[in-house]
Amino acid sequence: MPESVPLDFLGELRRTHTCGQLRASDAGSRVLLMGWVHRRRDLGGVIFIHLRDRDGVTQAVFHAGTESKVHEKAELLRSEYVIAVEGILQKRTPETVNSAIETGEVEVVAEKLWILNESRTPPFPMEETVDVSEDVRLKYRYVDLRRPHMQRNIILRSKIAFAVREALNSMGFLEIETPFMTRSTPEGARDYLVPSRVQRGHFYALPQSPQIFKQLLMVSGFEKYFQIVRCFRDEDLRADRQPEFTQIDLEMSFPQEEQIFEVIEPLVKRVCAVAGYDVQFPLPRLTYREAMRSYGIDKPDLRIPPFHTVEDLFPGASLTTEGLPLVAIRIPKTGALSRKERDELKAFGTERGLRVYDDVKRLERDFPEPMAAVRERTGAAEDDLLLLAGWPGAPKGQRPIDAVFMACGQLRLYAAQKYNDRHGLLDPTNFQFLWVVDFPMFEWNEDEKRWDAAHHPFTSVMDEDIDKLTTDPANCRAKSYDLVLNGVELGSGSIRIHRRDVQSKVFEALGFTDEEARRRFGFLLDALEYGAPPHGGIALGLDRLVMILAGETSIRDVIPFPKTARGTDLMCDAPSPVPEHQLRELGIKVVGGA
Ligand code: AMO
Repeated sequence: MPESVPLDFLGELRRTHTCGQLRASDAGSRVLLMGWVHRRRDLGGVIFIHLRDRDGVTQAVFHAGTESKVHEKAELLRSEYVIAVEGILQKRTPETVNSAIETGEVEVVAEKLWILNESRTPPFPMEETVDVSEDVRLKYRYVDLRRPHMQRNIILRSKIAFAVREALNSMGFLEIETPFMTRSTPEGARDYLVPSRVQRGHFYALPQSPQIFKQLLMVSGFEKYFQIVRCFRDEDLRADRQPEFTQIDLEMSFPQEEQIFEVIEPLVKRVCAVAGYDVQFPLPRLTYREAMRSYGIDKPDLRIPPFHTVEDLFPGASLTTEGLPLVAIRIPKTGALSRKERDELKAFGTERGLRVYDDVKRLERDFPEPMAAVRERTGAAEDDLLLLAGWPGAPKGQRPIDAVFMACGQLRLYAAQKYNDRHGLLDPTNFQFLWVVDFPMFEWNEDEKRWDAAHHPFTSVMDEDIDKLTTDPANCRAKSYDLVLNGVELGSGSIRIHRRDVQSKVFEALGFTDEEARRRFGFLLDALEYGAPPHGGIALGLDRLVMILAGETSIRDVIPFPKTARGTDLMCDAPSPVPEHQLRELGIKVVGGA
């Protein structure tokens, strides 16, 4: 700590205004402001303090030689001291107006100063952007969160949560809480477990989502439920994944898919308006098949054009294997690439099994007519990047068509991201939402040699595919849908199974024995036998939504106290070992260690 300064009590002091409020029209009033010393300039006979609170910054001026001796006291002030200042608000002279701050036309001529607390020198300045590692920011998160940038993000998050509550409340949804100490929920990640002290050897699982409880609330007759709820998943972390994150979770009774969309679209419109953006609805829709065939991914970024299959234009040319696609990828306005840049694109494709034809000039020489048709089909102009990609020489039947589409999808994204500074397609304020619908019901798990639920095991199969559940799982489509924004999966949901017999069939298709199904989800199966209504719902990732609307690329920047990629909270140093007696009480013995 710096040498201590005498501190004042808050006592009966009350602020009259915030630091963002005062304008020229308030000049002449007596005001009392409180906040942090943002900046201090000492010009000898006069000290200027930029006083900051959540709402903004106001300048206070401390003149030497006054009876109250405020100037002497102001000499003690340092960055981030917490103070209260009382004085008369005056208009600044035209040449001293500061147009960079909203209160820049005025300043407080200080008559009284209270120092409410001092501060060590902060580890980094309270600026919009700071040149320190994220680890330092996370260790001193309480200071990091004071920066205007982070304040804006967290305030936006609060406003969005409020708008969600208002919108859903106005549509008749009830906010109902569900337990955190519960049993395993089937969202595909590992559980965080909480040991029970009174029942040794027994564990609660923290919910990966409120999925089962929200379904039970439908069985209980609440009809429209929502919750802004924390979920816990022990999975590999990335920029858009945290071990604890927040969902806008909802469920309805008696809905078609269409009714879920009718709730979410106005909700999203309202939320975007809070962030200052107007989004046009209804949203486009693509089936899972269409998304894979045009974008090679189930969460397409519509800011980049789709690719096209063009094998039909090159009969007998062996640019790809017969039966596999030849894909034309266009990235607008990229301009000419250097040899090295083209080699990088080729190498990226090769690593994924593709043969990339990047030399358009040569292709146009060798295949003038087909290439003219490619340009027409893709709309490729001269300064667009145009790539063909295929997989020649594949042993027959060795590779599914989708693998080629997925590799092309990755190449398309890679090229678009790499040259964004040339074409600017990935403008973060261009919000391209869409629904992806008709997902497959199951996906093949090659490691375990069995079918997994593509969404979760309570998802309804399309009525017309119900008879194929156990005979042809590969071709069963689910009543499930994703909300996608700019290549990010924002939300996921489905119409659920409400009949006990259908749920048993799905468990059977997933290879669950009756016993296993009973052990894991017996209470849900029982509930389905007590008048479960048709129901369905969705959950949106609140962190991801706020991240995109705040223009951030990591959800850590919109979560007040996030964890690092290793799941560590650097500020409070969690997870941490616990005292031996605590483990003994729980009947737990630790074997090995981190
Ligand atoms: P799902 O598992 O797809 O569906 O999750 C829904 C949404 O939650 C967000 N999300 C995450 N956000 C940050 N960090 C994570 N680790 C993380 N995992 C998921 C994503 C995702 O789209 N119960 C179902 C929903 C339903 O069927 O109603 C569910 O949880 O934005």
